[in-house]
Amino acid sequence: MSSADAHELLSAAQDVRARAYAPYSNFTVGAALDVGDGHVILGANVENASYGLGICAERAAVAAAVSAGFRTFHAIAVAGPDGALTSPCGACRQVLAEFNPEMTVIYTTPDGVAQQTVSELLPHHFGPFV
Ligand code: THU
Repeated sequence: MSSADAHELLSAAQDVRARAYAPYSNFTVGAALDVGDGHVILGANVENASYGLGICAERAAVAAAVSAGFRTFHAIAVAGPDGALTSPCGACRQVLAEFNPEMTVIYTTPDGVAQQTVSELLPHHFGPFV
C-alpha cells in the first residue's frame, strides 16, 4: 500500500486510540481496518478487572468489521503510545491470518512506521480449515 494511504489509515488508528479503555496497563492502542470501497472499521483495546479478559484493538476491529458485514480485509493500521513498538500480538496475528494472510499491517515502532504482511509476521499460520 502507498505510504500516503498507510499514513491515512494510521492516522485513523491514532484517533480511535483515544477511546481505548486501558486503566490497568495504561497502554492505549487503536486499530483501523481497511475493508475496501473506502470503508474503515475502527477498534480500541478494552481491558477488564479480570485481566485475561482484555481484548486488543486489532481483535476489537475485526469483531466490529465482521459484525458490520465485512470480511474482506486489505490492511490494518495499529497505533500505540508514542515511541512504543506496537506490532500485533501473537493472538491477533492468528486472528488476522484467518481472514487474509496477505493483509498489510502498518504499525508503529521506536524508529518510525513499519509495514509488513500478516504472513511475514506469522509464517506457517494455522488454518482456516473449512
Ligand atoms: N494491545 C493491543 O491492543 N494491541 C497490540 O498490538 C499490543 C497490545 C493491548 C493489550 C493490552 O490492553 C495493552 O495493549 C497492554 O498489553
